[in-house]
Amino acid sequence: MMLSPWFNLSSLVLSNGSAPFDKAHGKDLWSYSAENLGHSEIFNEAMANDTRLCVPRIIERCAEAFDGVNTVVDVGGGNGIAMGVLVKACPWIKAINFDFPHVVSVAKTYDGVEHVGGDMFSSIPKADAVFLKWILHAWGDKESIKILRKCREAIPKENGRVIIVDAVIDEFGNNEDRFKDVKLMIDMVMMAQTTTGKERTLKEWDYVIKEAGFSRYTVKSIHAMQSVIMVFP
Ligand SMILES: C[S@@+](CC[C@H](N)C(=O)[O-])C[C@H]1O[C@@H](n2cnc3c(N)ncnc32)[C@H](O)[C@@H]1O
Repeated sequence: MMLSPWFNLSSLVLSNGSAPFDKAHGKDLWSYSAENLGHSEIFNEAMANDTRLCVPRIIERCAEAFDGVNTVVDVGGGNGIAMGVLVKACPWIKAINFDFPHVVSVAKTYDGVEHVGGDMFSSIPKADAVFLKWILHAWGDKESIKILRKCREAIPKENGRVIIVDAVIDEFGNNEDRFKDVKLMIDMVMMAQTTTGKERTLKEWDYVIKEAGFSRYTVKSIHAMQSVIMVFP
């Protein structure tokens, strides 16, 4: 089911074509997952493999992301592994793992982590920090701005932050970026598997962050495919 969209890429360039995944399955990835719970579980376990490696790197190389933070909500957190790892390393943090109800209802229990089901386009539970790993790259600018605005409503104006963990594509194709090829590969995966998703250059990140009403951000390399973009109200 993940391969068939690749045989439907032509749909993208047809005047009345749809996204390859939608063309192959008649619905988008998230609706497909909601109706095929076996697929949903396999998908979330696959995502968790990256998270197990990535979150310790963030804690080690970008500890300032959690300075002064007592509560964190992981939006689109899947089976909750990211918050499980975070709370183990930073036990003072109370975490919420937020995802669709059908995803959190089968998630494992982690000490210090509450699972909450919902829709990030409607509302996001309040916390000092929102964690968004591999979420915005699955959406186009219009939807990403909408999600970021919901994140802004969820955090305090003073001291709140959104921690985006996603790739930053080098606009000039810098060959010294050893993750360059894998970032471009993931960009193609977004093209095949999502309806509007894409990887972004810094200029493209700047656009969605500013349009969502945030005042400033920092970008930090964690020597991985993803960077940490910390966004402030
Ligand atoms: C690409 S996965 C990333 C999972 C996890 N953050 C990670 O990095 O391993 C995207 C997640 O967003 C969730 N998601 C998609 N649309 C959502 C929505 N409208 N509301 C809440 N969660 C959503 C999916 O169920 C999925 O778990």
